[in-house]
Amino acid sequence: MKHLLQIKGLKKEEVNKIIDKTNEMKKIVLSDKKKDDRLEGKSMVTLFYENSTRTMNSFTFAGEFLGMTVASVNSSISSVQKGESLIDTARTIDAYNTDVIVLRHFYSGTAKILSENVNAHIINAGDGLHAHPTQALLDLYTLIEELGDVKNKKIAIIGDILHSRVARSNIESLTLMGAKVYLFGPKTLMPTTDMQRENVVFCDSLKEALEDADAVMGLRIQLERQKGGMFPSLKEYAKIYGLNSERMKLAKPNAILMHPGPVNRGVEISGELMDSKCSVIEKQVLNGLCVRMAVLDLMLGENL
Ligand code: CP
Repeated sequence: MKHLLQIKGLKKEEVNKIIDKTNEMKKIVLSDKKKDDRLEGKSMVTLFYENSTRTMNSFTFAGEFLGMTVASVNSSISSVQKGESLIDTARTIDAYNTDVIVLRHFYSGTAKILSENVNAHIINAGDGLHAHPTQALLDLYTLIEELGDVKNKKIAIIGDILHSRVARSNIESLTLMGAKVYLFGPKTLMPTTDMQRENVVFCDSLKEALEDADAVMGLRIQLERQKGGMFPSLKEYAKIYGLNSERMKLAKPNAILMHPGPVNRGVEISGELMDSKCSVIEKQVLNGLCVRMAVLDLMLGENL
């Protein structure tokens, strides 16, 4: 694989290979040294046009833990502010003989555009509403770690589905691996067409989505992608759609709570549920680092 632009198109065996490699990477991350210089001599630039804490820092750590040289370009303090286009910015980075460019951008499809215009490998770190493949891989890894397997498991995804690249990528990976995905959110935030497929259920109530679920994934309300008017107020959103311990009881007794982060604490998920034993949100963060190391190693060190 030259690029990782989306989950769509990946084969089950390729996903399993990433999962296996992530196990190997987790051992490195949890070791005292945290280092394995197998990608020494390779370079990576993170090019972010949207804010990020988890994805950007975990890619930086991932590269450095594997011995790469890593630099970052933040659009808000780069020559993007002087009018330089995305392609010219990427070509400038490419001119340093960069091996990997990790791109986050607010427009869907930008990672693909870069892949057609530079020599470097492109990893999509989230493009508009379209895809966030490494998030889906870390979510899948966390689910397998916690549930053993996702085949025939019920995974509920709750919230702003319409604007969520995380939901789109998770639907691709989870259905590929045999899970059943149940979606629920305000009618105004539910997609009408692009997520419809076998093993994806559009629910009419929170109860239908949560009942007997093996895992419940809350999603952030993507206010930056909304024009407003999608729901009356954050307070009412929390009251009707917010996840809390009482609602979590509808799911299976050992069900896990997930969220890609960042969380609007007290809106999508109550503070007490976030901090409860069923929450694996911080495990997702750690696994994000390990999955990104796995993707880099498979891309640069071995053939995926
Ligand atoms: N989940 C995720 O993409 O988080 P960041 O925006 O902090 O990278």
